[in-house]
Amino acid sequence: MNIGKFSINIGMGRWFSSRELVEACYQTLLGRAAESDDVLRQRARQALTARQIIDSFIHSPEYKEYQVDRSILDDNLRQEKLSIDVDVSDAVRDRLFARVQDEWTRLGESEPHWSVLTANEFRADVFQDHADDFFDTGKLQVTDLRRTASRNGIDIDAYQSCVDFGCGVGRITLPLADLFAQVHGVDVSPGNLGLCAEYARTSGKKNINTILLDTIAALDTVPQCDVLFSLIVLQHNPPPIQVHMLRTLLAKVNPGGLAYFQIPTYLPDYTFVAERYLEQDLMGMEMHAVPMHKVFGTLRDAGFDLLEVMQDNYTGIGASHRFCAIKRA
Ligand SMILES: C[S@@+](CC[C@H](N)C(=O)[O-])C[C@H]1O[C@@H](n2cnc3c(N)ncnc32)[C@H](O)[C@@H]1O
Repeated sequence: MNIGKFSINIGMGRWFSSRELVEACYQTLLGRAAESDDVLRQRARQALTARQIIDSFIHSPEYKEYQVDRSILDDNLRQEKLSIDVDVSDAVRDRLFARVQDEWTRLGESEPHWSVLTANEFRADVFQDHADDFFDTGKLQVTDLRRTASRNGIDIDAYQSCVDFGCGVGRITLPLADLFAQVHGVDVSPGNLGLCAEYARTSGKKNINTILLDTIAALDTVPQCDVLFSLIVLQHNPPPIQVHMLRTLLAKVNPGGLAYFQIPTYLPDYTFVAERYLEQDLMGMEMHAVPMHKVFGTLRDAGFDLLEVMQDNYTGIGASHRFCAIKRA
């Protein structure tokens, strides 16, 4: 075994190799294993002292993200009650949806790519220089979907059709169209959806169909599908809209089909009371959470078996989860 460059005396006649320290840092400071044995070996070799190894971890962006994430989750676990309305009248639901529609219509006209990934390089004036990076991120999401299915014993290639709900400009819709025979991109923003249709046309992907969600009732026009996919979409909707959309879309998944979607399950100091919320002005690109038990209940009522809940950092502030579930045949 390569023990790294130096060893640290940890007392009682025991020594810790630099490689073991790197391994321990991965587990305790990042909460995960290293990517590979090579990475472990390389990091152990690069450092001259134990301090250097520890510093290289605690000054990394991943460490900062992980710590924020953990503190938000710890905060969540201290709560005894989450005051989040998910059931509202049809009239209130329509008013909530109209606000989502206004905001995303505006964003789709002014900053379509940035509205999808809020990094400065995706702002309208410089997007063309970074377009490849933008679309590469979409391919990774499809790889994640494939891996998730595979480790749950599901053959993703056996599925034919997919709904990409909140498809935006097609960042993920395009690679999804390499996986499935038919992909339906659904979005509330005419500007974003228009770009998705244009990218589908210019890339020659004839199996992408776009559907504008201009009313809540238009959800009825979303076709049945084998796979329901939705990332960083529901989070921008007030909780009653998230649950309503999810419930309606889950009903459209064919028996044996898959649902793969992301929702923030907790946000610090977050409460949602519909009437009070409607009295306030729109707050730009909003972020909302649905308690995890409500997501589980919605899946259960729709006849799904939960396969996995994966923590991610898609909100940028932690406590976001991807859910993967299969509809009972
Ligand atoms: C942050 S972007 C993500 C786009 C795409 N999922 C991706 O990851 O590349 C969110 C998209 O969801 C759309 N959206 C938000 N709420 C929606 C809703 N209730 N119904 C349909 N589309 C919605 C927005 O218009 C926007 O295009």
